[in-house]
Amino acid sequence: MDQRASSSPISRRHALGGAAGVGLGLPLLAACGDDDGGSSAEAPTPEANPGEPLTTAADVPVGGGVILAEEKVVVTQPNEGEFKAFSNVCTHQGCALESITAEGIRCPCHGSVFDVATGEPVAGPADSPLNELPLTVEGDSITLA
Ligand code: FES
Repeated sequence: MDQRASSSPISRRHALGGAAGVGLGLPLLAACGDDDGGSSAEAPTPEANPGEPLTTAADVPVGGGVILAEEKVVVTQPNEGEFKAFSNVCTHQGCALESITAEGIRCPCHGSVFDVATGEPVAGPADSPLNELPLTVEGDSITLA
């Protein structure tokens, strides 16, 4: 009944990944906690690293976007050729955002909806915008900056 063989490499990798994200100086955690006006989500941290390709411009519909669940990033194209990236963690209570409709980026947990251009909440209990992430578009490739 030795269960040690299957556990530690993955959990160790996640621990190092989180520490590496903080070490890279991402300004995500610094904005956390000034006032708690009803939003209790922790500061989101993308799983993707700066410079790592996220998606291609061709895969991001104009007026909508794509949710990259593994990377914890939403990439939108509010207007043709204008791309934005946001954390896919809802600012209400931290659920992963799941879909994008004509209304915006939707949270499945309590119905918050966020604007694809600004990340501002347009409906639901969330009262804080999604955390915007810097991105780079080179040719057709979209990466976190
Ligand atoms: S976690 Fe409550 S609306 Fe997203």
